[in-house]
Formats: sequence, structure tokens, C-alpha cells
Amino acid sequence: EEGPYRVGIITISDRASKGEYEDKSGPMIKELVEAAGMEVIDYVIVPDEKGQIAKKLLYFSDQRQADLVFTTGGTGFSKRDVTPEATKQVVEREVPGIGEALRAYSLTITPKAMLSRQTAGIRGNTLIINLPGSPKACKENIDYIMTPLKHGLGILS
Ligand code: MTE
Repeated sequence: EEGPYRVGIITISDRASKGEYEDKSGPMIKELVEAAGMEVIDYVIVPDEKGQIAKKLLYFSDQRQADLVFTTGGTGFSKRDVTPEATKQVVEREVPGIGEALRAYSLTITPKAMLSRQTAGIRGNTLIINLPGSPKACKENIDYIMTPLKHGLGILS
């Protein structure tokens, strides 16, 4: 494929979607993705609603033909946390190893990482990866995943 990988970012947070809270994770992901030589095509914020999350995942994969979508938030134990369920609903092939690897690495930083239910999967030519909600977790996850991620995107494109 020609050109830099095209990336969509979805922040999933009830409070950030209502403007009650400034999202810091979406901008953090954008900065790291651009530093890695990729292009951010769009960045959106949605509440913790499975239907709305799935709709944005379909928009980025089917309409925008993104190479990669990062979600942030909604992977934990709160009753409203449904990001992994929305992801599993839209992907054609789950990539459990990405969630497993990110948790395994994150466990070396905090035992609370075992509480993240984050997963990943492929829909068409688009890879979708769930990240936890905090900007700190997003940075740790992206720093760890970037090299194998580029290899995977090369195979997918
Ligand atoms: N992963 C990393 N690398 N660093 C972190 O600080 N925080 C954890 C975890 N994963 C964390 C992490 C915490 S405190 C929780 S509750 C889970 O992610 C789920 O986060 P989420 O509900 O915001 O998605």
C-alpha cells in the first residue's frame, strides 16, 4: 500500500462525550500515532453505548477504509464498559493475541491491568485495537505494540 497508514481514533466515555470532562487520551493517541509516521484521518468521542461504538467502528472500517482504529476506554468492569463487546460484534476475525500481549506487558507496570478486557480484531482491511481509558495506559500500550503492529499492518494492506 502507498502512503502512511490511515488511523481512526474513538474515545469512548460518557463524561467526555457530554463535554463534562476533557478527553486527554484521544489527543495522546494522535500524538503517538503521528510520531510513528502514521496519519490520523479522524478522531471522535462517543458515550459508552454499544450501538454507537459499533456504528463508529463500521464508519471507520467500511466508509473511511482506515487501516487501523484505536479505541480508548470502556474496557474495564464498570457496568457501562462495553467497548470489547462492540468490537467483537463488528470484527470478522478476532486477534486475541494483541489484547493478551498488551495485558501481559501492562501487568509488569500495574496488577490492575488484569482488569482490562481489551481485545482486537480485523474487519475487511481494518485492524481495530482496544486501549484502556487513561492517557498513561494508552502511551504504555502504543509504545509496546508499535513495532509488531507495523508488521501486521503491512501484511493486512
Ligand atoms: N494498562 C497500562 N499499561 N497502564 C495502566 O495504568 N490501567 C488499568 C488497565 N490497563 C492501566 C492499564 C486499569 S486501572 C483498568 S481499570 C483497566 O485498564 C481498564 O481500563 P478502562 O476501563 O479505562 O478501559
